[in-house]
Amino acid sequence: MCGIIGYIGDTNVLPILINGLHRLEYRGYDSAGVALLNENRLYLQRAAGKITALEQKLPADAPLSTIGIGHTRWATHGVPNEANAHPHCDCHQRLAVVHNGIIENHGVLRQELIDKGHIFQSQTDTEVLSHLFEEYLASGMPLSEAVRQGLLRVQGTFGLAVIDEETPDYLMVARNGSPLIIGHGQGACFVASDTAALVGLTDKVTFLDDGELAILSRNGVAVKTIDNRSVDTRVEIIDQNLKRIEKAGYPHYMLKEIMEQPQTVEDTMRGRLLEEECTVKLGGIGNDIDSLLYARRIILTGCGTSWHAALIGEYLFEELVGIPVEVEYASEFRYRNPIISEDSVVIAVSQSGETADTLAAVREARRKRCKVYGICNVVGSSIARETDAGVYLHAGAEIGVASTKAFTSQVTVLALITLLLGRMRSISSARGGELLRELQQIPQKIERILQQHEQIRALAEAYQDARNILYLGRGYQFPVALEGALKMKEIAYIHAEGYPAAEIKHGPLALIDKDMPVIVIATHDSIYDKILNNIQEVRARNGRVIAIATEGDQEIKKYAEHVIYIPDVLEPFAPLLTIIPLQLLAYDMAILRNCDVDQPRNLAKSVTVE
Ligand code: F6R
Repeated sequence: MCGIIGYIGDTNVLPILINGLHRLEYRGYDSAGVALLNENRLYLQRAAGKITALEQKLPADAPLSTIGIGHTRWATHGVPNEANAHPHCDCHQRLAVVHNGIIENHGVLRQELIDKGHIFQSQTDTEVLSHLFEEYLASGMPLSEAVRQGLLRVQGTFGLAVIDEETPDYLMVARNGSPLIIGHGQGACFVASDTAALVGLTDKVTFLDDGELAILSRNGVAVKTIDNRSVDTRVEIIDQNLKRIEKAGYPHYMLKEIMEQPQTVEDTMRGRLLEEECTVKLGGIGNDIDSLLYARRIILTGCGTSWHAALIGEYLFEELVGIPVEVEYASEFRYRNPIISEDSVVIAVSQSGETADTLAAVREARRKRCKVYGICNVVGSSIARETDAGVYLHAGAEIGVASTKAFTSQVTVLALITLLLGRMRSISSARGGELLRELQQIPQKIERILQQHEQIRALAEAYQDARNILYLGRGYQFPVALEGALKMKEIAYIHAEGYPAAEIKHGPLALIDKDMPVIVIATHDSIYDKILNNIQEVRARNGRVIAIATEGDQEIKKYAEHVIYIPDVLEPFAPLLTIIPLQLLAYDMAILRNCDVDQPRNLAKSVTVE
């Protein structure tokens, strides 16, 4: 949420900043800005709207510079306009600050600074930082110390970068609760809020930890804690693949990411299936398997789509591993003093590995001395680093704000953990082999569903004016119904609800009339007959049923107005297939309704604020 990029070196900084901002735009896109130092003068340009609006405002003769910072914003405090866009300056426009996070004591600090004569230009919490640093600079401190002293006064979360026209030979960065990654170049340093901005620039990085700040200069990086203890600079090499962050000919990242799923699910399983033993190898939890295996209770936590994947994990673990599971929204878990015994295990599910609520839930569980595992996509992310052990998705960068391929990879990882634990507990090698072979078939079965895109587009045309849509599923398909509805809401801005199908008679049936499309996931499984009954209940009230059914099911055509078929699949893994047409339907509806698919209104990828 919000993107930060910064650079100091020997090359003209502006193209580096603009390119970096484009790569980070999925983190926030309501306003943007840059600040540079040219002949020891601060140059600032900001614009409301997307990065292209900022580019249009930048003059062709914008000053050359080799040090600068940039920001793309997702508004928390203050409406998205130019005055609230970052960077923010002090009273004399001597220094500039970009910030991701929330300064919780900004009200008190603002009043204190106003009392001292500071004049504020914006409604943002961030602006208190620039005036606070100004205050310490005025007392004669160097920038590095002024920033450090200022941050000691701050409560809240921040990833930030600061430049000062009287300090052209370094820039300051600091982190507490919002990710910041330092990139090491030849005679140059970068800072970014995620590695996407560093692709093609450097693969040598330092992940800053909470409570750390760093001085970035042309000679390298010096890291220390905000309370002034020295820290060794840890350098890691990251995998850099430009293709993974490009659209590869697709009109939108979301469509690319939907279409990539045969490959990404395959990548998630690569090297992890042990065919002969009919089980799975997961390096990330290999040495920490016992706590999971002997857990009295597993708590799965996450937000949004990751929470839906976790719900599927509950069905998998309880049915096939035999361990009681609870699934909890991370935002609830973190504040409600959950009872966690030492033999409970927490598994945090997060694509970005940076979601503020999920990270806080991880910390709460660790504080309660519980073993915590992570299922993350972004390598080196905060959750990946703060958990005891974990499994990466290996799905590649997910840039579309609506999560698609990360969901199927999360469910795949949960299926892999199920197979691993199940085989160590009660699953026979015959059943293990059956499950393993089914997993191997999933990528090509997804491919077959993707080939029906034309048919799904036609369905979207028929329903593009819908104002409400109901999604129904039972068992493993209930979380898929929730996820299908979420996709429709966030991308096509259509009110949609996911419901366990049997629950509709307890209320939602009142909504059904001839204008209500009802998407029912009615695959051939252990409760197929029950879901047919639910379809009848909808039909009897003139609801318009779209069924997701299993290939070869002719019976369903008697009850449903439209049918989308998926290949036959073992029930526990069916969500990996049934979600695909729902992703495509949301995408197609959004396109037909002229919605901004990759950057839906009011949202941003990677929710690093509460
Ligand atoms: C929905 C979506 C969000 C995320 C949620 C958690 O399409 O993308 O609901 O799933 O913000 O994000 P992560 O998985 O990064 O923790």
